[in-house]
Amino acid sequence: MKNIAVVYKSNYGAARSYAIYIAKALGADLYDLRRIKEFDFSRYDTVVFGGGLYAGKVNGLHFLSSHALELAGKRLCVYTTGLSDPTIGANVERMEKTVKKALPSPIAEQTRVFCFRGGIDYDELSFSHSAMMAMLRQVISHKRPEKLSNDERTILDTYGKAVDFTDMTAANPLVAFVKGE
Ligand SMILES: Cc1cc2nc3c(=O)[nH]c(=O)nc-3n(C[C@H](O)[C@H](O)[C@H](O)COP(=O)(O)O)c2cc1C
Repeated sequence: MKNIAVVYKSNYGAARSYAIYIAKALGADLYDLRRIKEFDFSRYDTVVFGGGLYAGKVNGLHFLSSHALELAGKRLCVYTTGLSDPTIGANVERMEKTVKKALPSPIAEQTRVFCFRGGIDYDELSFSHSAMMAMLRQVISHKRPEKLSNDERTILDTYGKAVDFTDMTAANPLVAFVKGE
């Protein structure tokens, strides 16, 4: 199935690991967005894009939003990787809304969104990401425990540690969807 492209943007490897898994399962071409100079959209009927969540936004999603014309009529999938737990329905709904809002109208309707779990290793974070997480922790640590959202609790529980919640089997529904199963 070489008419499928899997494109990813990954800072610390989670979106990349899922991209490798998905591309292998689909026999698709695999692209790191950072290495793309020119992309031949005409070669593909299906484009899967994956990126990590950073402050509620999908890293690299501009790859789709800035090529709406070239992507018109194609089957599109977006997957996100984040600390947020996708087994919680409200988290998935929120991420779906975020993705669809960031895409121009014709391609938003064509896009199916999948949410996977990533991880975090505080020893690996860039200076600015480290500072962002420290600020976030500062803000949420003042909240009363019963007022914390699930995501906020995860941030406090994992702060300063290395955690890896990636689970490649979570990508199987995306693979099945693209295969039309
Ligand atoms: C500065 C910063 C902001 C983040 N914001 C979110 C977020 O809004 N939602 C979420 O679920 N995860 C968030 N994360 C966790 C990342 O999405 C997670 O580490 C993911 O696995 C990153 O994927 P990547 O390594 O492929 O870039 C954040 C991490 C950092 C360092």
